[in-house]
Amino acid sequence: MIPVNEPALGERELAYVSECVRTGWVSSAGRFISEFEERWAASCGRRHGIAVSNGTAALQLAVACLGPVPGDEVILPTFTIISCALAVMYNGGVPVVVDSDPHTWCLDVDQVQKKITRRTRAIMPVHIYGHPVDMDPLMDLADRYGLAIIEDAAEAHGAEYHSSRNGSESEWRRCGSFGTLSCFSFYANKLITTGEGGMVLTDDPQLAERARSLRNLCFRPDRRFYHEELGHNFRLTNMQAALGLSQVERIERIVAQKRWMGQEYSQRLSDITFLELPVEQPWARSVYWMYGVVLSDEAPIDATMFGQRLRDHGVDTRPFFLGMHEQPVFHRRGLFLGERYPVAERIARRGLYLPSGLALTEDQLERVCDAVREALS
Ligand SMILES: Cc1ncc(COP(=O)(O)O)c(C=O)c1O
Repeated sequence: MIPVNEPALGERELAYVSECVRTGWVSSAGRFISEFEERWAASCGRRHGIAVSNGTAALQLAVACLGPVPGDEVILPTFTIISCALAVMYNGGVPVVVDSDPHTWCLDVDQVQKKITRRTRAIMPVHIYGHPVDMDPLMDLADRYGLAIIEDAAEAHGAEYHSSRNGSESEWRRCGSFGTLSCFSFYANKLITTGEGGMVLTDDPQLAERARSLRNLCFRPDRRFYHEELGHNFRLTNMQAALGLSQVERIERIVAQKRWMGQEYSQRLSDITFLELPVEQPWARSVYWMYGVVLSDEAPIDATMFGQRLRDHGVDTRPFFLGMHEQPVFHRRGLFLGERYPVAERIARRGLYLPSGLALTEDQLERVCDAVREALS
């Protein structure tokens, strides 16, 4: 079976983690934490990085940093992982969702404005499967309405967006460089992995200080064990940061590998009828975190059957996200009742992603393409 993801870890990872074990710095203090935070923040063009225990915690912390009051609304795509909605709800807020762009599968920026109300506090764009959201119009909207941006770049390490805002010089900017607060995950299937892990990035020193305090139980710096706010234990360990740092040091090679994989799949699958392949907009450099495909409406099978057939051919896959507006857990809380988002509903049923890990070889990729061809023949 060709796995849907296999990480590629090497000697440097082993050396850095061994250093933690040898020196005894295994908990959440040690040189790797600050080096990992500084290097990853710099790589995304940001001033501050706050490493946390996972990507969901990063989103929860980012929303908490805004100091939301109960009932504050955050606009996010329905087509995403539940972490985005949970991060809002655990802070007493209300997730408000929009549909996806049918080509990039990211939130449809044109649908955001009509969801803005007096309660809206922030917009949470999610760069789906490694392709950037169209950030310029979204940033304009956020500026116009005084809204924060919580950027979810959990799937988009090293992806770039060509920004030409406000007549300023146009430039390629990394995902993670746009948000008031931007979030990453370092789960094992991400471009950089710490096993479990996450990070919040920001340029604002006060938000960074608040995030550090909330991450670590809100100990008061001048008086330990005295607390004025409810904090969390969202700390990352030095061992995890050691793993992360070793990969940040070769992020350009990791991105190149993923872009090779994406382009290779696109080339080899382009002549297959019944398949819609991922796009790369002219203003985007995708990192193809996961190579997703969507069955066209003419295809005689749905994604579940397609996945089963691929499995029979020795290829592991994963289904696409099911939209937040289709989740029973939210219906039970009175959210999204009767709401319909046709693009998200369609791709949820007709989409899946193929093996896309960093350890995927050319030979495996070729076998996956052969299996796709046979499964649809
Ligand atoms: C878009 C997105 N946001 C957030 C997360 C949450 O990250 P974690 O699994 O590290 O909690 C993920 C995880 O895969 C994700 O894909």
